[in-house]
Amino acid sequence: MKISTLHEYNFKPAFKSYNKIDKNTGNSISTNFYHDTEVLQKAVDIIEKEFPQGTDILIYAGSNGEEALSVNTLLHNRKKYKIYSLDISKEAVNFANRGIYGIHPLAEDGFLLNDNKEVNKKYLSDIFHKNFNETIKPKNFINVSDFIYSIKFGDIDLYPQRYFAPAKSLKQNIKFANADISNIEKFNNNKKAGAVFFRNAIYQLTKNDLTGVLKYGDRPDLEINKRQVINELIKKIYNKLEVNGIFVLGSHLQEHLYIADNSVPDCETILGDKSRNIRFMTKHPVIETLKKNRHFLPLYASVIEGLSPDNVLKTPLIWQKIK
Ligand SMILES: C[S@@+](CC[C@H](N)C(=O)[O-])C[C@H]1O[C@@H](n2cnc3c(N)ncnc32)[C@H](O)[C@@H]1O
Repeated sequence: MKISTLHEYNFKPAFKSYNKIDKNTGNSISTNFYHDTEVLQKAVDIIEKEFPQGTDILIYAGSNGEEALSVNTLLHNRKKYKIYSLDISKEAVNFANRGIYGIHPLAEDGFLLNDNKEVNKKYLSDIFHKNFNETIKPKNFINVSDFIYSIKFGDIDLYPQRYFAPAKSLKQNIKFANADISNIEKFNNNKKAGAVFFRNAIYQLTKNDLTGVLKYGDRPDLEINKRQVINELIKKIYNKLEVNGIFVLGSHLQEHLYIADNSVPDCETILGDKSRNIRFMTKHPVIETLKKNRHFLPLYASVIEGLSPDNVLKTPLIWQKIK
């Protein structure tokens, strides 16, 4: 992985439809509709091609439900597929079960409120509005003033949120539940699945909090053996998947650029921040593990989010279990 030209760490502003830190885990549970649209569309195409008769789709790190709902709108014959939106955060799962989402015009999914000229955005916006009904702001909804995009002129909100609830037909084949991916093998009575999503959460499992460490100066966790955690995770996902099933990864930089923990020899690191002696792993531990034993094949690569615009890096985000 090319990291020597990394000179800027520029995550997009974090406003999402429900931008929150879980009180118990301290982890971000932020997400938005159609996050990494191309990856979701590609994943759906592969699932439909490989499992035309139907299968289970396990969306771990499902957060507040936006990812599962987005995937469901993309399926052509959703009755054949059962989607589980699973998250370790009870708060996020409660939000998903309440099922009312605020969309802010300036957020990443704010395009859903616009008259879109771009063909794919128009397509997504059309299917979103076919599958969601606009509703009034629910009582005790997260206050928009929590968000950086709360722009007011006096008392008037210049960019008001709008609220949407999924239609009954969109919720029918989705179950939202509290679950930890570490127990994936037992989920649903050991039944195998055609797809496992775990996007933008490996960094939480491996305590690879790049934003905290590089942006806010937090002390990195060097005790955790990241390779070991990733090995165990991928072994469990492999055992859970049907042959030809897919594993879908997230695109955030912290899923792909790992701060070297104490178990990584210096010769496998590159210096990132000299003053703090922060080193990065030169071998991508997730890809390294996925390639091992030729169990998985990369099917689709996409751009990693969080690098400077002149440093475009594509990494495989959809992997297929081939044997
Ligand atoms: C930053 S959000 C990502 C949400 C969404 N997948 C996306 O890419 O936009 C990370 C989510 O992973 C969840 N999570 C972290 N560790 C988990 C685990 N061990 N099992 C299930 N969910 C987990 C967190 O609670 C949080 O909701």
